[in-house]
Amino acid sequence: MFLSHNDDPTLEDGFDNNGLVREICGLIRNCTPPKGIGVNGYWGTGKTSMLLQVCRQLTGVHPYGDKPPGLSAAKDVDKTIMPIWFEAWRYQHEAQPVVALLNEIRLQMGMLAKLQDKAAKLSGVALLGVLSAFDEVAKAASGGVFKPELGKVQAIGNAWEKERYQQPLPGQSIRNLLQEAVATVLKSKKMNKLAIFIDDLDRCEPETALRLMEGIKVYLNLNNCVIIFGMDQRQVERALVKALGLKNEDGAAMNADHYAREYLEKICQDIIHLPLPDKEKKSQYLSALLAKLLSDAPHTIFAERIQSITDQYDCLPANPRKIKALANRLASMIRRLENLPSVRVDSAEIDREAAFCLVTAVVYCFHRRIFEQLQKNPAYISEVIAYADASDIDKDVDSPMQGIQPSVASARELPVNPSDSNVFRLHRLLQQLAQVTDIEIKPFLFS
Ligand SMILES: Nc1ncnc2c1ncn2[C@@H]1O[C@H](COP(=O)(O)OP(=O)(O)OP(=O)(O)O)[C@@H](O)[C@H]1O
Ligand SMILES: [Mg+2]
Repeated sequence: MFLSHNDDPTLEDGFDNNGLVREICGLIRNCTPPKGIGVNGYWGTGKTSMLLQVCRQLTGVHPYGDKPPGLSAAKDVDKTIMPIWFEAWRYQHEAQPVVALLNEIRLQMGMLAKLQDKAAKLSGVALLGVLSAFDEVAKAASGGVFKPELGKVQAIGNAWEKERYQQPLPGQSIRNLLQEAVATVLKSKKMNKLAIFIDDLDRCEPETALRLMEGIKVYLNLNNCVIIFGMDQRQVERALVKALGLKNEDGAAMNADHYAREYLEKICQDIIHLPLPDKEKKSQYLSALLAKLLSDAPHTIFAERIQSITDQYDCLPANPRKIKALANRLASMIRRLENLPSVRVDSAEIDREAAFCLVTAVVYCFHRRIFEQLQKNPAYISEVIAYADASDIDKDVDSPMQGIQPSVASARELPVNPSDSNVFRLHRLLQQLAQVTDIEIKPFLFS
C-alpha cells in the first residue's frame, strides 16, 4: 500500500502524450545537425518526463539507470544515435558551464563506448586522442584553466597530444577538432549522431544559462550533434533579458522580450510546447492517482464522486505535479473522513460531501491563506462563495483572496495561466453548491 505519490519524473505517460514523444523522436532522427530543439513547458508540467521518454524510445537508454521494473523494453530503437544526458542546474556554479557539458559528453561517450561495445574498435590511443580533443576544447573554453585528469594513462595521452597538437588551436579548428573527435567515437560504434539532452536550463541563474548557451553556440554547433533542451521558455527568456541587460526603450522597434526570444531561437530552431491536458485528462489523471492511493480503502465511492465532479467542473490546474499534491491530500482526507455518518447513506449527501472534500483540498493545497482563515472561522465559507460568485468584488489588503487570480468574472471566463495554482478555479463548483454552512464545512478543515 502506498500513501503518497512522489514527484519523480516518469516514463509512464498519464496524458496520452505518446504521439508527441514519437514526433520528437522522428525530428531528432531525421534532422540534419547542427540542430537545437526546445521542449517547453511550465514548471512541473512534465518536461523531464518527456525528455526521458524521448531518450528511451529513441535510443533504448534510460538516463537515470536501469529500466524501471514492470516497464517493457523500448521497441524499434535507433542504434545510430548516442544519447548524452546533462542536468544544467547541477553546474550552476561553474565558471564555464559548457566545460562541464563537454566533460560530461566525454565521460558519457567513453562510458557508453566501453559499456555497450566491449570489443570496440577504438584502440586505447585512439580513445585517448578523442578524450584529449575534448580536453583541448575544454581548456580553450575555460580560458586555459581546465586541468583534465588522465590518471594512469597520462603518458600515452601526452605522446598522442604531442603528435597532434604542437601548436595552440585557432577557434574554428577547435570546433572541427571536436566534430572529428565525436565522429571518431560514433563511427567506431556504427553510430552517426549525438543526441544531447540538456534539462533544466530554466533553473540556472541567468548568467549561467546565458554562458551555457553561448558556449553551446561556439563549441557544439556540430554537424553530428542534436541538442534537446527541456525548459520553461518564459523563464529562460526572462533570464536572458536580465543577463544580457536588455531594456525596453520607448519607441524602439524591438522590445527586450522579443530580443530575448530571437536570441533563444538562434539556439533552439524548433520549440515544441508540451500540450496542456484538458478537463477530461486532468480528471482521469487525478482519478488514477487516487485509485492507487485508495486501493485498500473502503470508500472508493468517495473517489468516484470526486471524479464525476472534476469531469464536470474544470477546477484542476493543468500541472501533473500539482495534481499529484492534490491527490495525496485528498487520499489522506478520505481515509480520515471514513467515519462521517452520511457517507454510506444518502447519495445526494455523498455528492455534497465529495464536493466539500474537493473544495477544501484544493484550498488547502493551492490557497493556503484562505484555508487558514476557514480553519479559524468556518463561517468564512460564505465570503469564499461570495468571492467565487463575483470575483471582481473589492478585496481589502488583508483579504486572503489578495493576490489570487480569479478565472471567472461576471460569468465571463478570464484568460489565466492554465498551470498556475494561484488561479482560483472553484467559481462554478461553489456557485452550484450555493449555501454552505459552517457546520457542514467544518469536518473538512483539519490539518
Ligand atoms: N506524462 C505524464 N504522465 C503522468 N505524470 C507525469 C507526466 N509528466 C509528468 N508527470 C509527473 O509530474 C511531475 C513533474 O514532472 P517532471 O519532473 O517531468 O516535470 P518538469 O516540467 O520537468 O518539472 P520541473 O519544472 O521541476 O523541471 C512528476 O511527479 C511526474 O511524475
Ligand atoms: Mg524537470
